[in-house]
Amino acid sequence: MNSQGGIAFKIGAYPSQKSPMSAPRQLFVTTALPYANGKFHVGHIMEYIQADIWVRFQRMQGHHVNFVGADDTHGAPIMIAAEKAGQTPQAFVADIAAGRKPYLDGFHISFDNWHSTDAPENHELARQIYRDLKSNDLIETRTIEQFFDPAKNMFLPDRYIKGECPKCHAKDQYGDNCEVCGSVYAPTDLINPYSALSGVTPELKHSEHFFFKLSDPRCVEFLEAWTQRVDANGKLVLQAEVANKIKEWFSVRTNADGTTSEGLGDWDISRDAPYFGIEIPDAPGKYFYVWLDAPVGYLASLKNLLTKRGQDYDAYMANPALEQYHFIGKDIVTFHTLFWPAMLKFSGRKTPDNVFVHGFLTVNNGEKMSKSRGTGLDPLKYLSLGMNPEWLRYYLAAKLSARNEDIDFNADDFMARVNSDLIGKYVNIASRAAGFLTKRFGGQLTHAFDPQGAALLQVIRAAAHDIAQLYETREFGKATREIMLLADKVNAYVDQNKPWDLAKDTTNNEALHQVCSVLINTFAVLTRYLAPVLPELAQAVQGFVGVDMQHWHSATDVATIAPYQHLMQRVTPEQLDALFEPPASPEPEKLTPGGEAIAPTISIDDFAKIDLRIAKIMNCEAVEGSTKLLRLTLDVGEGKMRNVFSGIASVYKPEDLVGQLTVMVANLAPRKMKFGVSEGMVLAASHADEKAQPGIHILTPWPGAQPGMRIH
Ligand code: MSP
Ligand code: ZN
Repeated sequence: MNSQGGIAFKIGAYPSQKSPMSAPRQLFVTTALPYANGKFHVGHIMEYIQADIWVRFQRMQGHHVNFVGADDTHGAPIMIAAEKAGQTPQAFVADIAAGRKPYLDGFHISFDNWHSTDAPENHELARQIYRDLKSNDLIETRTIEQFFDPAKNMFLPDRYIKGECPKCHAKDQYGDNCEVCGSVYAPTDLINPYSALSGVTPELKHSEHFFFKLSDPRCVEFLEAWTQRVDANGKLVLQAEVANKIKEWFSVRTNADGTTSEGLGDWDISRDAPYFGIEIPDAPGKYFYVWLDAPVGYLASLKNLLTKRGQDYDAYMANPALEQYHFIGKDIVTFHTLFWPAMLKFSGRKTPDNVFVHGFLTVNNGEKMSKSRGTGLDPLKYLSLGMNPEWLRYYLAAKLSARNEDIDFNADDFMARVNSDLIGKYVNIASRAAGFLTKRFGGQLTHAFDPQGAALLQVIRAAAHDIAQLYETREFGKATREIMLLADKVNAYVDQNKPWDLAKDTTNNEALHQVCSVLINTFAVLTRYLAPVLPELAQAVQGFVGVDMQHWHSATDVATIAPYQHLMQRVTPEQLDALFEPPASPEPEKLTPGGEAIAPTISIDDFAKIDLRIAKIMNCEAVEGSTKLLRLTLDVGEGKMRNVFSGIASVYKPEDLVGQLTVMVANLAPRKMKFGVSEGMVLAASHADEKAQPGIHILTPWPGAQPGMRIH
């Protein structure tokens, strides 16, 4: 701060710094589309809060913003998760989508629309973009070799292949890298690879894949220019740390074996059926890789919004003044600064104006939150404890900058910032002045300020421009710091003028009136500055002081106030304890004599899916090459025999079984095994720990049952 109370750092002129009279900007803003395979964690909420603060600030400037999100629904992990849950992928992602609202409403995230990448708009747009790239000669097919799971009848993504590490021989390592020695390899390098889905040995198979030719000189040239472009002041448009990192990807590298390779390779954009995704035009059984259609979801959500409003999507996108921004995390920069701009550019569409990259949020210096594991700070638990969502908005704003850097949520720091800064410095200004104004002056304020008070108000109002610059450039931490420095000045004025002392003697009435009126006016201005971060509080203050908090440039003079009502509570240590208290551990598992707990409850409908039948063992023989298996020929009354392998050779001799009745699962998917296809499963009882308590007992029905009867 300089002696005039201005802001010490200066920022170059920015396009938004137009007078309030100039034409409003047209902004299309998105956050990354979260995978629809889990609930939001606080990392997601941080991204939404960051974007929401910026969007609310732009709306306060009078600009037009369409702020949209959607669920990212496609891909193998979601397909497999749905199958595990016994749901169709569509039903699975619909359940996830249905859970989004409490988070978004709860933290005051002002999306104009929330959509899905599985919606018709996205199917149509993704296919159209692909067709446009194809007619621009940027799509190519190539045959690649890939592991195939014969039991699941599908090609396996690298992470679904496991085996022994070729380097250190650790067992059960993933197809792309070893978690024990850290070496990186191809799935084909694994020793004794197996499918993590079915356990069977995968086979190498050829498949035709579609590639987006990013190595095409047109793409390389465009992307080098796009990622390194500068503004009118010669400043990189992308964040410097992001642009510099990207530069490395373009450089021609010398590999360890002496060969050189171009930085930018072609991008494999297809996957084979079965896949939950969008089918590629004119390529039956081929689907877009999820990352091809995921960012298209930005456009699909916007199109859906505009259509609902009766607006024309094509006309909106054709506006040369339209600005498009994506808020994303640091882990998905390649997709947003290379693949996505190239897809848009070479399909003849508008490219993003910028991509704003943030770092990761950690909690109490914990590990980085994983996509699957969640975090220590459950956003819904936070809300259910009655904790104010604006505390979190303020705290995150105070920690956020325009840089791509990680930030940590620290419980003690959180309490200090909220209680000492937000409440101690800012909210208290109103509570200190309001009572006197209401009781002594009927809620009327004077405009005949004392000179010191008038000067103070002047300084505080004069900061509007600089604070706007900080919001515009996403320097929210600096913005909140400046606002708190202004609040410090107001509090110094309170301490000098001591309204509580003035109130003791009625001859000081005029001075008291002036001081309290100055305080409420400064409070109105500070509230305006905080409104992008604290929208609900600003709304409440609007009711209290009668000043419009929705527009950055409207007047802030306060004429009268309504009786003061508490604006914000303090955070208590008890709330934080409760927030981070680990969830009550589940009941210790009750082990049965069978060595395992009873499985979770299922519905009668779940049970009805399993078709159990009385089967007659027509034939039974040993399996050559296996000490465990017997080959059974079973009759379940279908007019044909079933071939079933069963791991009961250690306890039953073939001749003991022939002619007996037993029970089988008749509608199990056939499974290809080393010795042939097994067309069902015979039921047998055993202890969970077969080594410790050997013994296998097949079932026999009571007399009278006939082959083919169903077991209900
Ligand atoms: N589905 C993709 C994005 C597709 S965009 C067309 C995805 N989803 S995600 O659910 O894993 O992540 C969504 C966003 O949350 C990403 O921007 C990601 O960087 C961000 N975050 C995930 N964990 C985070 C933290 N711990 N902290 C901050 N942001 C984090 O990636
Ligand atoms: Zn290893």
